[in-house]
Amino acid sequence: MRNLTLLILAAGKGTRLKSTLPKVLHRLAGRTLIEHVVDAARPLNSSATCVVVGHEAGQVQTSLSHLTLQFSIQEPQLGTGHAVQIASEFWKPNQGDLLVLSGDVPLISTETLRRLLDQHIGTGASATLLSTKLEDPSGYGRVIRNPAGEVERIVEHKDATDEERRIVEINTGIYCFVIADLAQVIDQLSAKNSQKEYYLTDCVGLLRKRSKRVGAVVCEDPSEVSGVNSRSELAELERVIRQRKLKQLMQDGVTIIDPASTYVEPSVQIGADSVLYPNVFLEKGTVIGAGCQIYPNVRITASTIEDGVVVLDSCLISESHIRARSQVGPFAHLKSHTVIGSQARVGNFVEIKNSRLGDKTKAAHLSYLGDAEIGQDVNVGAGTITCNYDGVSKNKTIIEDGVFVGSDSQLIAPVTVHRGAYIAAGSTIQEDVPEDALAIARSQQVNKEHWAKKRRESRRKE
Ligand code: UD1
Ligand code: CA
Repeated sequence: MRNLTLLILAAGKGTRLKSTLPKVLHRLAGRTLIEHVVDAARPLNSSATCVVVGHEAGQVQTSLSHLTLQFSIQEPQLGTGHAVQIASEFWKPNQGDLLVLSGDVPLISTETLRRLLDQHIGTGASATLLSTKLEDPSGYGRVIRNPAGEVERIVEHKDATDEERRIVEINTGIYCFVIADLAQVIDQLSAKNSQKEYYLTDCVGLLRKRSKRVGAVVCEDPSEVSGVNSRSELAELERVIRQRKLKQLMQDGVTIIDPASTYVEPSVQIGADSVLYPNVFLEKGTVIGAGCQIYPNVRITASTIEDGVVVLDSCLISESHIRARSQVGPFAHLKSHTVIGSQARVGNFVEIKNSRLGDKTKAAHLSYLGDAEIGQDVNVGAGTITCNYDGVSKNKTIIEDGVFVGSDSQLIAPVTVHRGAYIAAGSTIQEDVPEDALAIARSQQVNKEHWAKKRRESRRKE
């Protein structure tokens, strides 16, 4: 195995995005552009990865601080060749090959990168570039081949002749170089061109002048190597990723009623025979089992939904787990590590935070349950509120198996309602309730006989 070093160019500003955020931190299907690139390259097992940062360098570095990456700072940014020069103390001492990637080409796949590396090593070329063919190649660097079909050089659109501009094979900005050979030409770049920049692409011509071999791998799917330069291109790639994911899900047996209005991030898994209605958003590694139904206007993020669960219209579920055959919604909000047991029911306008509900427990209407541990077969009546926050700290409510909580009750935490107890409707519970007891904590009702009738009569006389 030859040693591989990775260099990701990400110092550019991305002027056309008109953003205060650096280009590579714009998001696509839930991840930043640069994360897409890093993730695609990860399986290649490079010995080290360096990211060239420049514009808003600090922000880019912070966003990637959870990964083991090195950074080179390019300031000012004088072109892609300059970026590789700046990073030379990182790559020059290494053996083997340097794979250069663009931080703004997010859909590049691991398979294509492998194909590039395999051909590069297999042919013994000094450099191998990834190209593609575009119907409209304007703006890109063109791949110039000799009559034998061998790559001779790359010419940037702005520097190209009319004849060169008719070439449809373009440079994707992804290359593999033999480090020892690149080291010999990288300092010979000149900025005598229309953009007054040091072009990395000129290394191809410089290597050819030294009679080194340069190869190219043609990528058949141009969307895989599209760069993001504007908000429209960002939206276009978002659409490509989304359609790709939905197509895969449908092949795997998921029903998607309207793919045009269904948003599923690539990290999401869904079992067969599940149905997604329009306007469903599934995000951040959410796992959905088989035979689930997710009705319109539901967003589920970083959650697990087991088999046969029904999520009715307009729910938000984040960082939560719903066990098999339960029903949630419409209009429910589950968050912060909530766990709903199997065959449970959570109904309209119920908010549940950091709580566990046991199997077959019901909270069917209008409740807030926070920091609660609720057993099995519990009935949480309409309008029940756990008063979990005393203004300083969050306290726990424990409701054991088989408890019946009457409607419109408040449970002032910390408090425990033991097994099988009953809470009368309208109670404010602040002391623990013993097993199988009835707790009533509301003011006594007084009926004043004939009061209303007398009032009506006295009004009539006035
Ligand atoms: C580059 C290629 C072009 C190719 C196109 C593919 C050159 C000279 N041209 O052009 O042949 O068709 O990509 O998309 O390389 N960057 C830096 N520092 C700099 C300049 C750029 O790190 O000083 C980074 C950018 O952040 C970006 C990448 O390099 O990630 C490409 O730069 P960009 O300015 O988009 O190059 P293009 O003009 O598109
Ligand atoms: Ca570009």
